[in-house]
Amino acid sequence: MPYFVIPGEKKKEAIQAMPGQCRYSADQLLFEIEKLVENGIPAVMLLGIPEKKDEKATGAYAKDGVIQQAIREIKKRFRDFGVMADTCLCEYMDHGHCGIVRQSGDAGRSGDYEILNDETLDLLMKAAVSQAEAGADVIAPSDMMDGRVQAIRRALDSKGLSHIPILSYAAKYSSAFYTPFREAAFSAPQFGDRKSYQMDAANRKEALREIRLDIEEGADMVMVKPALAYLDIIREARDAFDVPLAAFNVSGEYAFVKWAGQNGWDEKALVLEILTSIKRAGADLIITYHAADAARWLA
Ligand code: PBG
Ligand code: ZN
Repeated sequence: MPYFVIPGEKKKEAIQAMPGQCRYSADQLLFEIEKLVENGIPAVMLLGIPEKKDEKATGAYAKDGVIQQAIREIKKRFRDFGVMADTCLCEYMDHGHCGIVRQSGDAGRSGDYEILNDETLDLLMKAAVSQAEAGADVIAPSDMMDGRVQAIRRALDSKGLSHIPILSYAAKYSSAFYTPFREAAFSAPQFGDRKSYQMDAANRKEALREIRLDIEEGADMVMVKPALAYLDIIREARDAFDVPLAAFNVSGEYAFVKWAGQNGWDEKALVLEILTSIKRAGADLIITYHAADAARWLA
């Protein structure tokens, strides 16, 4: 079950674009997790929304950052409950991109910016280490920089964190289905788009190459994202690789179902059919905002 975490205490803000989902301060999140534990959900994926964003994504690797504090509180209260940390910079960058951006040429015209892939790796390594040191059970890089799995693996190993597994967002497509997420996390890119680092929906073989590379670099689990428009990719990945395979049933896929439910469709039937299809396609793990409801229904 994914959650958006915000700083502070006693905070629970509804996310308009995702009916039924909220941004929680860590103390409020504990109440939600208590319900998950009762219904047999094994883990959460935490997405941090910092107090302040800047051009170096400082909040992503601050010792007392929003995600680091939340991880500590959850692990203190629920020792055996799984905490996965989404490792990325976009929520922490003032410009909303997943990496360091350099301006080149005339500012403001598209094409005049570039992502500095290798410089970004240093920040991702710091973010991953700080999340793992706070107690995260799984590090899940979602940035799509090249070489980040190897960089993060080495950084974790060098800090005595070789036992912490990496769940790589390996085949992450550039998708309009992330639209509600960007509203939820206030992380829409302020200029340009993510097409230079996220994948082209038309490209099937690249997904397999990306997954293979991530496994070679040390990924313990890999992910296909989004899920529903990419069930064929999930199936191909399942057939081609033998590491645990995750699918992220993303914010836009969730919002569709909620709208249908608000218009009289049978939401429970929709959700269970969708989750079944993702499972049938071959996913071992499903990351879905429906998790809390689905677990309750199935229990
Ligand atoms: C951060 C991140 C995103 C999602 C998960 N991690 C946003 C993005 O890449 O734009 C999307 C999840 C969703 O839409 O539910 N990189
Ligand atoms: Zn990102």
